Amino acid sequence: MCENVNADFTKRTHKCGDVDASLIGQEVVVYGWIAKQRDLGGRIFADLRDRSGLLQLAFDAEKTAPDLYHLAETLRSEWCICARGTVLARPGDMVNRDMKTGEVEVFVEDLYVLNKSELPPFHIEDGVDASEDLRLTWRYLDLRRPKMQANLALRDSFVFALREALHKSGFLDIETPILGKSTPEGARDFLVPSRLQRGEWYALPQSPQLFKELLMVAGCDRYYQIARCFRDEDLRADRQPEFTQVDLEMSFVDADEVMSCVERVLRPAFASVGVTLPDEVEHMSYWDAMDTYGSDKPDTRFAMHLHDVTELVAKSPFKVFSETVAQGGVVRAVCAKGAGVWGRSKIDKLAEVAKAYGAKGLVWFARKEDGSLQSPSAKFMEPSEVDAVLHACAAEKGDLVLLVADTRLIADTAAGALRLHLADELGIERRGHSFLWVVNFPMFEYDAEAGRYVAQHHPFTLPRDWEKFAEDPLLVGSYTYDFVMDGCEAGGGGLRIHTADLQLEVLRALGFSEKDAREQFGFLLTALSFGAPPMGGFALGLDRVCMLCAGADSIRDVMAFPKTTSGSDLMMDAPAQVSEAQLGELGLSE
Ligand code: AMO
Ligand code: AMP
Repeated sequence: MCENVNADFTKRTHKCGDVDASLIGQEVVVYGWIAKQRDLGGRIFADLRDRSGLLQLAFDAEKTAPDLYHLAETLRSEWCICARGTVLARPGDMVNRDMKTGEVEVFVEDLYVLNKSELPPFHIEDGVDASEDLRLTWRYLDLRRPKMQANLALRDSFVFALREALHKSGFLDIETPILGKSTPEGARDFLVPSRLQRGEWYALPQSPQLFKELLMVAGCDRYYQIARCFRDEDLRADRQPEFTQVDLEMSFVDADEVMSCVERVLRPAFASVGVTLPDEVEHMSYWDAMDTYGSDKPDTRFAMHLHDVTELVAKSPFKVFSETVAQGGVVRAVCAKGAGVWGRSKIDKLAEVAKAYGAKGLVWFARKEDGSLQSPSAKFMEPSEVDAVLHACAAEKGDLVLLVADTRLIADTAAGALRLHLADELGIERRGHSFLWVVNFPMFEYDAEAGRYVAQHHPFTLPRDWEKFAEDPLLVGSYTYDFVMDGCEAGGGGLRIHTADLQLEVLRALGFSEKDAREQFGFLLTALSFGAPPMGGFALGLDRVCMLCAGADSIRDVMAFPKTTSGSDLMMDAPAQVSEAQLGELGLSE
């Protein structure tokens, strides 16, 4: 239902946010939604919102035509309107420096109510305290908020600049199918039943990995795609069941060339959203990252490095240390500046953090301000060992040193988790952005649940030192690289196996019989035997990078219509049941 004062439908002359002091005295026509309306008795002000910003509309009981003034009195939040009027300077004391258009207001001469609005379920403004579930249920209203609009615009700028850079670097944008075949990439597949071939299933792609390799076999040389990926895994702040990768692949390159090319195309994309990617992004090997930061995606915006104290306690009378070392394990320490003054119970709780990452326990030394040492474990050790550990960690008065003894992977990981936890507890600032390439991941990891080795990246990755497999699969490295931003895995890739023989060997190492491998990957193995070129590629997690650039806490804030952590779309109420008839067509009913 529409009400109008003057039925002339007028053409928009300006976006709300573009009306500024340079337009004073001019007539403008603006469209948008009422963000706020204030009736001061004799004067009415309404903030009009569109994607570009807010603009104040003004009505005056003395000067505005009476019927127009009455209409202005009825305006309510989120009504969609059109206004024509003259841009006026606001009186000095009314200037609002927080608003882009705060120096002016539009004295309205014509108003057209395009559509009234129900009372919105929450106030549509930044800093809204509505629960996320409520915001997701009413997502189209939530997206009206300036911050959400800014996030969508940031994503657009980033993608636009990246596409341009990729195109100029010779990459072809090529689409690959959404309906494909189930292939192992680490997560569970989403499956789609085939109606035409009863009992058969398509799988949605976890990534276009195999297609991009086939495009290299096809001679496409440089491919990219802004690709939707689907993974049925447990969700958290930086994981969604469907997400977007900027996926690329290159022929005839080594790992360094892929990384420097990725940096080259990412630099203008980051610049377009005000983030500077350094001229050269540092490379760090997987084990250096693990031993120094206790993470394969270290947040390098603060130090608090781990210390290796294995040798210092190898012969300790304290068996927790000496037995671990005798069994080939290591002892890692982390020193938290200023945490030595914490109370005993707060320090004891840190063991829970370490245990959540597989540690069997936690030894700690608190250096009190008065120079005394508090530690339930020091009495089991030689005083000289304790001194050596404190010295190695450069622990001063007031510091807390924590030690984990275990296999290298568990000791690193648990100490790394403590490092992040302590940084949060101590309020260590993590300002700006950090970038890092973590390179040369192990090819395999042992999956205790499955009782076999699994690929750490994916089974198509080119191994390094393949001959070490017979000795110990965990010694086999790989030509891989992860792009780490602010302690988040923002992207990853690697060189690929490009010969059928090696691919088959690796699949066998992963537990596939030749028959199974041929059944599942016959098309790939055959393609590799037709002169497949050496190749390598990369995939950027677009949602994650946009989240970090926007300073958002969750990738949901940079996706227009994300799912909840239980995989629901609260707005359209998906997933949902379907009719018996639909199931019947697919051959899925009883
Ligand atoms: P990978 O599995 O590492 O590599 O994925 C690449 C990047 O995608 C992002 N990502 C996700 N983002 C949101 N939600 C998810 N559930 C999710 N899962 C992954 C991460 C990750 O770094 N085909 C290979 C790439 C290659 O080898 O070229 C691949 O998919 O930022
Ligand atoms: P226990 O001998 O198991 O009673 O452990 C003695 C102390 O050493 C406790 O404070 C444990 O938390 C700690 N501890 C046990 N195992 C480890 C380990 N692998 N690394 C570090 N601390 C440990």
